[in-house]
Amino acid sequence: MIRVAAVGDIHMGPDSRGLLRPAFDTLPDCADLLLLAGDLTRHGTPEEARVVAQELRGLPVPVVAVLGNHDHHDEQPEKVTAILQDAGVRVLEGEGTVVECDGTRLGVAGAKGFGGGFVGRSAGEFGEPLMKEFVRYTRRSADALHTALEELADKGCELRIALTHFSPVADTLAGEPPEIYPFLGSYLLAEAIDTAGADLSVHGHAHAGTEHGMTAGGVRVRNVAQPVIRRAFNVYQLHTAELLAE
Ligand SMILES: [Fe+2]
Ligand SMILES: [Fe+2]
Repeated sequence: MIRVAAVGDIHMGPDSRGLLRPAFDTLPDCADLLLLAGDLTRHGTPEEARVVAQELRGLPVPVVAVLGNHDHHDEQPEKVTAILQDAGVRVLEGEGTVVECDGTRLGVAGAKGFGGGFVGRSAGEFGEPLMKEFVRYTRRSADALHTALEELADKGCELRIALTHFSPVADTLAGEPPEIYPFLGSYLLAEAIDTAGADLSVHGHAHAGTEHGMTAGGVRVRNVAQPVIRRAFNVYQLHTAELLAE
């Protein structure tokens, strides 16, 4: 059994220094790794990223993250990534990483994702160049997630997690105004997850959403935005036996 701690949307700034560290220090007792589902900062400034890095530096469990839209706001995502990486965080964008947990190879594929909406209510690659680019950006992100998940299978991972900021399903958006669903996620991410295969999908971004959902292909989806889970992190259990029984 692998214990996966996860949280997103911690939105840290200078005034939140030290807020999460006491809880993160308990991670070795309850989890094998920590996933961060983006929106780690408020505006994506290096100053805010350094606050996040300080909360995570030297944690005795692996930390794997994707960035969120807020982490892009200052238009320095490379700088935010570098600051987090310097603190030992594995920051993923369209790639995967393998974590060894008690002899089990766990793969995490990460991509920020983007919007576009869900089947029957989604944006299409049609019309103005800006509209086409909007949808193509999401498609590229979903394609990268798909490839990363497949590569993790090729690397012999017994368990795989898809980590995104935007949601792959509408289930976990329940509570948000339906009018903004197209800005909260895309069905293309769920298609990538279902066709490549995964044991768990974790995302954030939907602060007023719902924790539990599922893709059409039966992959469990968890919205771990901190305003949804209302704690420092949640822990999910993954059983290798489930995979063997399939
Ligand atoms: Fe957020
Ligand atoms: Fe967000």
